[in-house]
Amino acid sequence: MNTNRLSPTLTTALNEQMTKEAHASQIYLSYAAWADNLGYGGIANFLFRHAQEERNHMMKILEYILKRGAEVKVVAIPAPPANPKNMQNCFEKVFEHEVDNTNAIYKLVKMSFTEEDWATWNFMQWFVKEQTEEETLALSLLDKIKIAGGKNIDSNSLYSLDRDLQITPDDATLAQDVTAENP
Ligand code: FEO
Repeated sequence: MNTNRLSPTLTTALNEQMTKEAHASQIYLSYAAWADNLGYGGIANFLFRHAQEERNHMMKILEYILKRGAEVKVVAIPAPPANPKNMQNCFEKVFEHEVDNTNAIYKLVKMSFTEEDWATWNFMQWFVKEQTEEETLALSLLDKIKIAGGKNIDSNSLYSLDRDLQITPDDATLAQDVTAENP
């Protein structure tokens, strides 16, 4: 009796996405260590928290593959890219990594739609929402840095940003949660 409810194609794609989430975690981890070395403990704390979030995403996919009766393949994680050049570059890179991950999630949504695997399609909707939040959060941070002078951001503004990010909520407000009273 075949108890595997995932196609070979989706099994491979989900395993690849699991590794991609682990890679995203390593990227946040390396940028956090970079920021901490420069003395920005608040920014580092924010990035360390996101490293954990990405690891949670990895676990969700791992668990899903197992629960659908398919095989998990844990493989090597690619090394993170070079350190950012400055704080603006750091958050530009964060945004780019998130968009890249969103595109990978969209591919999985499309694949599950094409296969009419509605369980996987449904599972992936959580990630679609999560990616919208993460892109929104990265964009709002880039906006803050831009207002404070972009790559020429001064030390006072960096001090404030560092203090803010220590306590910044990890989730951005999504458009669908906004009301006229609470824009
Ligand atoms: Fe799990 Fe930010 O992607």
